[in-house]
Parts: sequence; C-alpha cells; structure tokens
Amino acid sequence: MRELSLNILDIAQNSISAGASLTEILVKENTAEKTLLIGIYDNGKGMSEEQVKNVQDPFFTTRTTRKVGMGIPLFKLAAEQTGGSFKITSELGVGTRVDALFKTDSIDFTPLGDIAATVSTIVSMNEDKDFVYTRSVDEKDFVFKSADIKKILDGVPLSEPSVINWIEDYIRENTEQLFD
Ligand SMILES: Nc1ncnc2c1ncn2[C@@H]1O[C@H](COP(=O)(O)OP(=O)(O)OP(=O)(O)O)[C@@H](O)[C@H]1O
Ligand SMILES: [Mg+2]
Repeated sequence: MRELSLNILDIAQNSISAGASLTEILVKENTAEKTLLIGIYDNGKGMSEEQVKNVQDPFFTTRTTRKVGMGIPLFKLAAEQTGGSFKITSELGVGTRVDALFKTDSIDFTPLGDIAATVSTIVSMNEDKDFVYTRSVDEKDFVFKSADIKKILDGVPLSEPSVINWIEDYIRENTEQLFD
C-alpha cells in the first residue's frame, strides 16, 4: 500500500504538466464524519468531457509508448476502496479539479504519509509556479502560499536545500498545531 502523499505528488505533477501557473492542494479532515477530502485544483489546459472519462480508465492512455498513465486510476481506486468517492471536473482552457473523498475508518484507508515533504518538494522543484496548500482538521486550518514565501525569500532560490527544509518544517509545525 502506498501513502496518499505519493498520489498527491502524481496528481499535482499532472497539473504542472498541464501548464498550470497555480495549483491548489487541499487536505481536509473531518474527525466526526471520519472523512478525508483531498482536492487538487489547477488552472492548466483542462480536459474535454471525453478525456475526463478516458483518463479514469486504467486501460486507456494517450501515450504512444508502452507506459500506461496510472496516476488518476490509482488515486480513484485508493479513494473508492475506502468506501469514499472520486470526481474530476474539467474545462478546456480553464482548468481541472480532482476531488477524492476517503473514509478514514476503512481498513483500506492508506495513511497520508509525509505530506510536508511532498508539498515542499513540489514547491521547490517548480519555482516558476504558484502553489496553495490548505490543510484543515475540523474547524481549524493552515494555509501555505508559495507566493508569500517567495516574497520573504526575496530572490533566494526555493531549490536551496536550507529553504526546502525550512518549508518542510514550517508545514509540519503548523500541521501539528491543528491537532492541539
Ligand atoms: N490536471 C490535468 N490537466 C489536464 N490534463 C490532465 C490533468 N491530469 C491528467 N491529465 C491528462 O490525463 C492523462 C492521464 O493522467 P495520469 O496521471 O493518469 O497518467 P500520466 O500522467 O499520463 O502518467 P503517470 O502514470 O506518469 O502519471 C495525462 O497524461 C493528461 O493527458
Ligand atoms: Mg500523472
């Protein structure tokens, strides 16, 4: 079983490949309902209705090489296996919204994994793009905006190891506070 943060990495990578200048990642936990919603929203090139249908089918790929695109089918499966749901909403030239709802009390629920490391990796490897990461637990939330960090860093590259580590620690510490 893989960790959900790896699925998030895959799906956010799709957004970057689709030319998104802004990608939003939402991880929203409801402890009473025992649900976890993961949303990845972008302003990339979008998909047609037919594409949206096809990319959810694990045996379909637009690639001419042998590699079959599995990012979306695996994420969909991970959500549905828990008794949750999965939805893609997309519009050509506008963007794409991927929503996966997980039932956290299912025995098939995979842990989130190291989301702080995942987000800091995505942000630092795509300096020219903007990311908003929102983590919420019941009524509390924490919002991380890469644009704010870039302003503070004032030209220091996001790919500097010390910056990557700082972002990771910052996200981790703020996430811990959501559980206090
Ligand atoms: N956010 C998005 N915006 C536009 N097109 C998308 C988006 N996400 C996925 N797609 C389209 O759906 C296809 C399938 O995505 P999927 O992640 O399942 O596989 P992949 O990216 O092709 O391969 P991989 O297994 O490496 O992820 C992509 O190749 C792309 O054409
Ligand atoms: Mg992919």
